Amino acid sequence: MTLAARQLPHLNGRQFQLLMQQLQRHAGIRIESPQGVIEGCVGERLRALGLASYDDYLALFDDSICARAEWLALVDLLTVKETRFFRQGAALDAVADYIDQWLQREDTGNGFSFWSAGCSAGQELYSIAMVVEQRLKGREPWLEWHGIGTDISFGAITQAQLGQYRESAIAHLPAPFRRDCLRRIDSQTWAIDDEIRARCHFFHSNLLHVNDAPFADFNLVFCQNVLIYFERDTQLWIINQLCDRLRNGGLLVLGAGEDMGWKHPRMQRAAWPGVTAYKKREV
Ligand SMILES: C[S@@+](CC[C@H](N)C(=O)[O-])C[C@H]1O[C@@H](n2cnc3c(N)ncnc32)[C@H](O)[C@@H]1O
Repeated sequence: MTLAARQLPHLNGRQFQLLMQQLQRHAGIRIESPQGVIEGCVGERLRALGLASYDDYLALFDDSICARAEWLALVDLLTVKETRFFRQGAALDAVADYIDQWLQREDTGNGFSFWSAGCSAGQELYSIAMVVEQRLKGREPWLEWHGIGTDISFGAITQAQLGQYRESAIAHLPAPFRRDCLRRIDSQTWAIDDEIRARCHFFHSNLLHVNDAPFADFNLVFCQNVLIYFERDTQLWIINQLCDRLRNGGLLVLGAGEDMGWKHPRMQRAAWPGVTAYKKREV
């Protein structure tokens, strides 16, 4: 009888702890789903690999490249990827305001660039892109812009690159953006406008290894609803890394309430109500 047909074994406390420790080591994150949910996800991997026990599964995790691929598959199943268009309207209003201020500057030379770190299936990056496009189009349409989205989940990145969403996913999108930035594909599916999609690029990247990634020189970095999954020391390390990748005068936007009492000599808290944002001082 195949494993698919048999009942899955039970994940015991020791095996559960070992898995959690390893996930923390590889992805840096705490998975807070109940043990039953985690057992279901790991069970899917057991079935897919035709393994008979969780000990056999844990034994896969040596230092080989195959082990790395398996961690990525497991992280993909276990991470919380909840997101939506215009998830935090106040933060996007702040972006619109920030772009208006930025346009007053004399050195808009390299155009406007932004990064959604932990972008999930792309809704956050595309929401920012829509606001940027709307602000620049009406004022200085010749200015270039581009956006980068990164995430640890291959599944999320693949969806983001496709840029197609179900009718239910666009429910939170304000009507003018729906009209100008989407096109209907069929009765249930919408696609991001081709020109906007062509300026948005998505990459698989682990925030724990941000130093290995060639991302830098952004006007704007969004990192919302991602840091909550990391331990405090790692959170602070990641925020500092994000700041290093901002241009002078750049803006870092965290999730509402993700203040964490963090201080940085170059960063000043911005004053938009209900928005956790910091501006990088000019030098
Ligand atoms: C709750 S979603 C938030 C998505 C989006 N930022 C938003 O606020 O709507 C968290 C995202 O962080 C990603 N993530 C978790 N750990 C990560 C890591 N170590 N590196 C990069 N992305 C990570 C998850 O895959 C998931 O897509």
